[in-house]
This record gives sequence, C-alpha cells and structure tokens, in this order.
Amino acid sequence: TSLAAALDALPKVELHCHIEGTMRPSTLVDLARRNGLDLPTSDPAELYRYDSLDSFLEVFWMVQSALGRPGDWARLAYESVVDSAAHGVVHCEAFFTPARHLAAGQDLAAIVAGLDEGLAAGEAETGARCLLIADMDRAFGPAVGLQQVQALAALRHAGARGTERVIGVGMDSTERGIDPASFRSAYDAARAAGFRLTAHQGENSPASAIAACLDILGVERVDHGVPVMDDSELVSRMVGERVPITVCPTSNVVIANVVDRLEDHPYARMRTAGLLATINTDDPALTDLDLAQEYAAVAAAFGYGWDEMVHIALDAVDACWLDDAGKAALR
Ligand code: HPA
Ligand code: ZN
Repeated sequence: TSLAAALDALPKVELHCHIEGTMRPSTLVDLARRNGLDLPTSDPAELYRYDSLDSFLEVFWMVQSALGRPGDWARLAYESVVDSAAHGVVHCEAFFTPARHLAAGQDLAAIVAGLDEGLAAGEAETGARCLLIADMDRAFGPAVGLQQVQALAALRHAGARGTERVIGVGMDSTERGIDPASFRSAYDAARAAGFRLTAHQGENSPASAIAACLDILGVERVDHGVPVMDDSELVSRMVGERVPITVCPTSNVVIANVVDRLEDHPYARMRTAGLLATINTDDPALTDLDLAQEYAAVAAAFGYGWDEMVHIALDAVDACWLDDAGKAALR
C-alpha cells in the first residue's frame, strides 16, 4: 500500500535490535562453513525456526556461535547497517550480548573493535548511524554481568577502539526465575562508569519486575515492557516521567507468544495511556522483517494513519540517547 511505501521512506530510529539478530541467513551459512560450525540444515529458509522464547534463544545462540573471529563481527555489523538503512533506519542503538563469546575465550576488545569497523563502513556508505548497548546475558548470572561491565569500563578508560560507540548497558536472554534486582551491583557499576541504562523486562515476567528495574536498577528505558498495563500506578509513573518502552510487537507474537495476533497486543492501549512506547524489530533477520514492515504491521493492526505513525517515529527520537543537538538533527 502507499502507507507502507511512505513508512519505508520515513526516517526512523531503532532502539531495540540485537545485532546478532540481524544476521542474514546466507551470512550464517557462510560463517558456519568457515568456522567449522555444523548447522541443523543448510537451507537458509529453514534455519530460523522456533516456537517459543526458549527455542528462539537456541536459534539465537546458534547465530552467536557462528561469530568466531573479529572479521565476522565486522561483517555482521556492516550488513546490519546497510540492511536497516535500506528501509529508512537513520539512527540505531543496537544490542550486542558477548557473554557466550567471552566464555568461549574471545576477547572483548576485539569484538568491540570488529563491530566498530563494520559499523563505520556501513555508516560511511549509508549516512545512517549505529551506536551500541552492551547487554548482559542473564543466563550467565549477575557476577558475569558485573565483570562484563567492569571490563567495558576499563576498555573505555584505556581508549580502546570502538568503546566510545558503546553508550549503554542492558540485559537480555531468559527472564524466567531471575530476579532483576540480583543485577543491582552490575547496574550500579555501569552507572558509575557513565553508561546509560536499560533492561529487557516484561517479555516473560510480570509488571512487578518492570517496577523493580526502575526502582532498584535505575534503568532509563525498558525493553519490551509488555505487562505494564496490568499496573496502573506503574503506568502513571512511566507516563509522568516519560520513561521509554521499546516495544517489539511482532517479536512478541512470533518469539515470546505473549499474544496470538498483533491486534491483541497491548501496544495500542499503551499509546492511549500516554506511554512513550516505540516500535522496534528485536531480531529482524530471525523474524524476517524490517523496521518499515513492523511500522506497517502495527498501523494495519490498530488502524493508525500517517500522522500517528510519524508521531511514533518522533517519540523514538525523544527516547534515544543522543544529546539535544543530536536529537534535533533527526527531527
Ligand atoms: N528476548 C530475550 N533475549 C533476546 C531476544 C529476545 O527477544 N532476542 C535476542 N536476545
Ligand atoms: Zn530484545
């Protein structure tokens, strides 16, 4: 439709995208071959299959394990910028989650430098910009998370390549049975080191866990935040303080199965309540979509027209972590 075409051209900001989740299936096949990784199938169309958050995370870990050398991170990052810019993404704050790689002996400095090299090449080619958020993998526990934050802070202090691009710290992976408050020292260390703070919460946990992220971890944004509407006090507070929620509607349908259809997603109620709820892809290659398609799908599901979609795109500018001049340049 013409709305979909206009949304493709609309300059957009992406705030919830895992860079590993942007890996083209063809790149996965290629990297796996070069790094001696066995894939369950060599048919690119069959690689990204899952039916729950847990089985999705297994696919995500397979993708991560294909990233063996610094050059692989650079290729992933370059392709990520080029692919998203082709559908109107002008500014992205992308997650990377290195715990698994670090446990396997990779070097954090080499990962960040590899990402920086690929992002810089993609930026030079497209004019888009991509900053990074270093996510802690909750499955590895709070002590590993704290170590990761300390290692990043030390690299930044030493002026290591690409560390100025890593503006924030977050956490992702499984939520079940994990109290977000257990990551308090990691968040305290990240804040002290000058990182911006966010956390995946409410993909698979109740509203009380979102409140804990705000109260105990001091996060500035919440990634997913699906059950927020269950707690009216939490809603008033997040509306009043304009705490951004980076919502990933299609991901919530196909990955976490929190709702069966987009039409049943609380996104529209979040907007009506006045929440700063943005639209994001989460893992665009693994769900076979781009940010423009995500915008179009939300518009179709809730009957939003152009003006509402532009409003949402401008809210994402407000929610990003650029300074006022940087935000003004995006409006
Ligand atoms: N949820 C949790 N962790 C993740 C996801 C997700 O959707 N994608 C990549 N890591
Ligand atoms: Zn995510």
